[in-house]
Amino acid sequence: PFEVKLTSSGQTYRIPKDQTIVQALRAEGVEIMVSCEQGVCGTCITRVLEGVPDHRDCYLTDDERVANDQFTPCCSRSKTPLLVLDL
Ligand code: FES
Repeated sequence: PFEVKLTSSGQTYRIPKDQTIVQALRAEGVEIMVSCEQGVCGTCITRVLEGVPDHRDCYLTDDERVANDQFTPCCSRSKTPLLVLDL
């Protein structure tokens, strides 16, 4: 598990192993716009301000992945204990 912090509210949410970030946030009333929920379409792309995403999509290019500033929360996770998102 890891935590996700949203800059707009300053709130931090724990993401359990069996839920995606999108699912865990939705359960807390935070909606992220999604379409495929499989890392294909790029609809959910979210800016990452701190932390290192564990990219699990097949949408971003390799260059975009290493830039470390955006990810797909419908399927990707975190390599660091905390991800700070521009949400
Ligand atoms: Fe399609 Fe996330 S909803 S990549």
